[in-house]
Amino acid sequence: MEDIIQFAKNTLQFDSTGHDFYHVQRVANLAVKLYKQDNLEMTPYDEKMLLIRGLLHDTVDDKIVKNVDKQWDIIQALPTFNKLNKKDKYQIREDIEWMSYSKNLVKKHTLSCYGQYVQDADRIDALGAIGIARAFAYGGRRGQPIYDPSIEVKSSVTKEDYRNKTMSTIHHFEDKLLHLVELMNTKAGKILAEERTEIMKQYLTQFVHEWNVE
Ligand code: ADP
Ligand code: NI
Repeated sequence: MEDIIQFAKNTLQFDSTGHDFYHVQRVANLAVKLYKQDNLEMTPYDEKMLLIRGLLHDTVDDKIVKNVDKQWDIIQALPTFNKLNKKDKYQIREDIEWMSYSKNLVKKHTLSCYGQYVQDADRIDALGAIGIARAFAYGGRRGQPIYDPSIEVKSSVTKEDYRNKTMSTIHHFEDKLLHLVELMNTKAGKILAEERTEIMKQYLTQFVHEWNVE
């Protein structure tokens, strides 16, 4: 697994949008934790399948890396990946390619069981205290304001819509983050997402309080 960890570190080391190595590491570890909560047994193979998906999921994302195909070529050559059977390699790629929120806006793709745990973990990392920090980091990089009450709240329908529309980070809470809980695939994911959504709602209440100088 060391080769995959090193590859993820190299790829994501300069990221300041909340998709850094620590994000993929948290997602990988959280996917394992959620899997353990829902399943009586976790084999070393199960753990490996979860960790590989978690660690790699943002190293081949077109908003973070320029050449996605080249990244996949590098991954194929990593010994840990290379040694997997054909079916696992195919399923890992398929899961990662359909993991992102934006790709599922028009049509929801169902991932493998391992993919579902990693997708939940990835979405849970967009919630709670860390999720709040990541949203403002991402918003800052996009040049969007913290909040702008003159912008109308409109839900995104397509990926282009979601990526390009003008908004503020507080709008992004309403547009996406507060709805992630409804999209959880797994039982353990749903419970944790509910907890972290509650934290965000409390944060928003306080934010509005301070904004209105109440
Ligand atoms: P995905 O990779 O699943 O398509 P994103 O990359 O859009 O999802 O989201 C990953 C992180 O970036 C999340 O923490 C999310 O809140 C944040 N993010 C995405 N778009 C915005 C935005 N317009 N404003 C603030 N944060 C955003
Ligand atoms: Ni991610």
